[in-house]
Order: sequence, then C-alpha cells, then structure tokens
Amino acid sequence: MSAAVWLIGSRGMLGSEVEALLADRKIPFVATDRECDITDLDALRSFAAAHEPAWLINCSAYTAVDKAEDESELAFRINASGVENIGKVAAENGARVIHISTDYVFDGEKPGAYREDDPVNPLGVYGRSKAEGEGRLKAATDRFFIVRTAWLYGTHGANFVATMLRLFRERDSIGVVDDQWGSPTYAPDLAGAIARIMVSDSTAYGTYHFTNEGRTSWYRFACEIQREARAAGLVDDRCRIDPLSTEQYPTKARRPKNSFLSKEKIRTDLGVDVRPWEAGLRDYISELAGEPKAH
Ligand SMILES: NC(=O)c1ccc[n+]([C@@H]2O[C@H](COP(=O)([O-])OP(=O)(O)OC[C@H]3O[C@@H](n4cnc5c(N)ncnc54)[C@H](OP(=O)(O)O)[C@@H]3O)[C@@H](O)[C@H]2O)c1
Repeated sequence: MSAAVWLIGSRGMLGSEVEALLADRKIPFVATDRECDITDLDALRSFAAAHEPAWLINCSAYTAVDKAEDESELAFRINASGVENIGKVAAENGARVIHISTDYVFDGEKPGAYREDDPVNPLGVYGRSKAEGEGRLKAATDRFFIVRTAWLYGTHGANFVATMLRLFRERDSIGVVDDQWGSPTYAPDLAGAIARIMVSDSTAYGTYHFTNEGRTSWYRFACEIQREARAAGLVDDRCRIDPLSTEQYPTKARRPKNSFLSKEKIRTDLGVDVRPWEAGLRDYISELAGEPKAH
C-alpha cells in the first residue's frame, strides 16, 4: 500500500504535532517511532518496501543534550548513522526527505543571525552528532530538506516553557540565563512549515532555518511566559525571576550564546510564513488554559 508520507519519530514533541497536522489535513501517512529503529537499516528498508512513501519526515533524534556528553557513541549512532540510513532508504525508493536539525551545529560566536551557509562548529557531542547527520544525509541523497530549528516547545514533551510553568508554581524565586540569545519555536508552527515544504512541491533542496521570529534571552522568555501564564490564570506572580550569566548556571554541555537563525531563505525560497515568537507562546498558553487559539 502506498502512503504519501512516512513520519519517523511520531511520538516526540515535534513528531506528535506533525502527526496531528497530517491527520487534520487528511494527508495519507504512516507513522513510526522506536518500534522501527532508525539505526536498523533493514527495518527501515522493509517498512519502506511495504508502504512506498513519497516523503520521509524525520522527527526522530537523540535529543538529551547534556547526557550526550557521556553517551557519544549512542548519540552518533542515532543522529548520524540513523539519519544516513534514512537518506539511503529515501534514495533507494525515490522518496524525498525532510530532516530536522539544530542551532547547536553552530558555536554561537557570530554576532548576527546565522545563515544556512555559515560554517558549523558545534560545541558539544549532541551538536557534533547532528552536524555529522546533516553531512551523511547529504551524501546519501540529493532530494533532502534539512530544517534547522531552535528552542522548541510544545504540549507533547519536556521543554523550557513547561519547566518554567512548573517552577513558577513550586518556587518563590528562580534564576534564568540572560546571556544566551535565540528564538523560541512553537512546535505546531514548525509542523506547519514542514507541511508547507511538502505541499509547495519545491525542488529547491538544501538546508533551511526555521524558528519563530524575533530574538530574546532565556531570562526574557521566562518573564514573558510568566506574564502570559498569569494573564491566563495558570500561575500567580509569587515566583521572582532573576537574570543569571551562563557562568552562574553551569551545564555539562556548552550552549551557543547566539542561536539566532536567519529565516530569509525559507521565506523567500519556500514561501514559509514565520510569525513572532510571542504569538506562538500566546497560543501555547491559551491551549494549556483551554482557551480557543487566536488564529
Ligand atoms: N527540543 C528542542 O529544543 C530542539 C531544538 C533544536 C532542534 N531540535 C531537533 O528537532 C527534532 C525534534 O525534536 P524533539 O524535541 O521533538 O525530540 P524528542 O521529543 O526527543 O523526540 C524524538 C523521538 O525520536 C524517538 N527516537 C529516538 N531514537 C530513535 C531511534 N533510534 N529510532 C526511532 N525513533 C527514535 C524518540 O523516542 P524516545 O523518546 O524513546 O527516545 C522520540 O519519540 C530533533 O531532530 C531535534 O534534534 C530540537
């Protein structure tokens, strides 16, 4: 039986949103997660032979950024070899691939917005494994879209916004890093961008950046989360938020100080809409509060 789309990693934070969107738009798809391990090339081949997908959308990944520092082999097996397998199977079946990558391929030293052709220089194992995955995918197939994103959040997984909302309820004060800059990305907006790439039927293959628009720090993002959540009645204003430097909040893996990605290319070449991060956050908070979305 032939399906238009094979969604890989369907139970993750992004995969869940892509699955919901495909179902909503009545686009025929098949979905797999751990039960079809991307590190198992034969399993991927059998599944592709059974379903003959025209598109492979890869939302699966090893995403434990700090843990990756101790699990390098596993991170590379999934994020590099697994992605290479997906590229091979796509090429063997004449299918196209949309693969998700990350701002962590960059070192964050550039003062302005990162463009797709800026040189990569990951700071940690996770970023290195994702950069390697990008390279192996490109070597395996010509028909790929790599979409790098950053600061992703949504209703289906652990993420910064969910953590902040929990801490606002549990603590009287928290400290949040104020010297790392980037753009929050609401997972349904990225799912929409992925769908847009598919329906555009574009052959402008290559690497693209997608986040919500605008630049903020984690601290400023936390303040806005608190403001929106308070307005929606989800939290009170008991918890004080204090700005921290990266040095005051050490983590196992180093993070880029600047994660700001230029979206000019995805807008111009693929016609993808990019709305401000504040609008995505408002929808997320509304969803949590059970209110209808603004759009
Ligand atoms: N989250 C962020 O802030 C962020 C930022 C930038 C880029 N990204 C990228 O965005 C994409 C989606 O991220 P996400 O946050 O939605 O990830 P996620 O929630 O961790 O979901 C990844 C999914 O892939 C599954 N998976 C892991 N190894 C697999 C394997 N070998 N075979 C098949 N499935 C496997 C995971 O299963 P288990 O849960 O059982 O491991 C999980 O269901 C990833 O490529 C990530 O690198 C994320």
